[in-house]
Amino acid sequence: MKVLFASAEVYPLAKVGGLGDVAGSLPRALRSLGHDVRIVMPKYGTVSPPAKDLGTFAVGIGGADHEAKLTLSSLDGVPVYLVDFSPLFDRPKVYEYPDDGQRFAFFGRAVLDMLPASGFWPDVLHCNDWHTALAPAFLRESPPADERYRRIRCVLTIHNLQHQGLFAKDLFEWTGLPPAAWNPEGVEFYGQLNFLKAGIVYADRVNTVSPTYSKEIQTPEYGYGLDGLLRSRASKLSGILNGIDYKVWNPAKDSHLAQKYSKTSLEKKAKNKAALQKEAGLAAESKIPLLGMVSRVTEQKGFDILIPAIPDLLNLGVQLVLLGTGEKAYEEPLGRFANAQKGFVAYLKYDETLAHRIYAGSDFFLMPSKFEPCGLGQEISLRYGSVPIVRGTGGLVDTVIDVTADPRNGNGFAFSDFRASALLDAVGRAVAFYRAGRGWKRLQQRAMAQDLSWGASASRYADLYEQAARGTGP
Ligand code: ADP
Ligand code: GLC
Repeated sequence: MKVLFASAEVYPLAKVGGLGDVAGSLPRALRSLGHDVRIVMPKYGTVSPPAKDLGTFAVGIGGADHEAKLTLSSLDGVPVYLVDFSPLFDRPKVYEYPDDGQRFAFFGRAVLDMLPASGFWPDVLHCNDWHTALAPAFLRESPPADERYRRIRCVLTIHNLQHQGLFAKDLFEWTGLPPAAWNPEGVEFYGQLNFLKAGIVYADRVNTVSPTYSKEIQTPEYGYGLDGLLRSRASKLSGILNGIDYKVWNPAKDSHLAQKYSKTSLEKKAKNKAALQKEAGLAAESKIPLLGMVSRVTEQKGFDILIPAIPDLLNLGVQLVLLGTGEKAYEEPLGRFANAQKGFVAYLKYDETLAHRIYAGSDFFLMPSKFEPCGLGQEISLRYGSVPIVRGTGGLVDTVIDVTADPRNGNGFAFSDFRASALLDAVGRAVAFYRAGRGWKRLQQRAMAQDLSWGASASRYADLYEQAARGTGP
């Protein structure tokens, strides 16, 4: 299959969260299965790999032709097309600009308009999240004249249904989509342009990043207003669990660690804990359970139940190290608690290498998410033998088995109710298990033995591309 993989984030060129990880690793896994997968992303100000000049092309949007440059780079053998249009993309951050609607409408159009300049005509265009979800609407409603566009099929992966890309009607007019697309069966959503809805309506296949989340989003609780539409499109909707990049996340070869280790030399992990305690200025006690957290600091990640639980959590005699950045409304109380409470350290920033040291240095990894399409944090922590404590939702259900409920197969601790007391109860159980000592090492080894590589899931994506190309069932 020839696949063009379109993403706003691609690790290590640009990453905000898990989307970047997936875009940086799934295409390579698919190439190793023999598929010709290539990536396309915007060329942000921070992205400057060596790249071959492929000339210019015209992006037809806003009633004009805008000249953009196309360059070709490569990531570990995966060709990466960079759409270079400095007025919209030559900026330090990926998102959070007032003109994000225009920026990603432009990118969605550019993904199609660049094909003649690239010389690559994919069988499948694989879009990811709202940032690229207008492309299928452009392809079906206002395709360029070239016949070759007609043969392209679209897959949309929803990494997060909460972020839909909602904008005022003027942006719809700017896109140049035909007026007929402005209706509830098209791209309109309660008087606004909804990018993600456009992708769901126009893509041939839609998937989410875990089987459980693909079911949850068909309910009002998790559907963010799109559950009805998703139920009506259930026949083209499926769920494929994310893998993690075993080259980036491997405790046996991780150069960011104080001490490399594997499941057969687990005793060496202790050095990473000691190093993390020292770095964070925590008491250097090997027996105190250390809980790590690496997370965007947003409502999704469960800070509404974590923050009120912090004093009681620390009373259980644990240490807590958090690395994360996000909403001020959560960062502010976290910063205050970190100053006031012994045993709690909060790094309110983005730091790749510190993330590695936390995954390796913790005994437990905390992820009390309100919702979680897949979650890579718990997958990485399993690989590092840091036992996850999670709220059982979305991809966390599909990856973490509670050891109290299933002592033979359990690899972590899970709770259901989205309440501080349920979180505390799960941490209490985890800490008791750790202190009792019996079975602790086996639990860590079981966590580390789990296959979280892309292998099986990459094959499922290949099947999905086949279904999209052949128009067969999910
Ligand atoms: P999401 O995509 O919803 O943010 P995931 O668990 O799927 O959640 O992926 C998060 C990714 O981002 C992981 O690779 C995690 O290590 C990384 N990450 C999140 N916050 C930070 C941070 N402050 N510093 C470094 N890495 C981070
Ligand atoms: C999203 C989700 C996360 C998922 C990631 C990669 O950001 O919040 O659960 O793992 O995308 O698919």
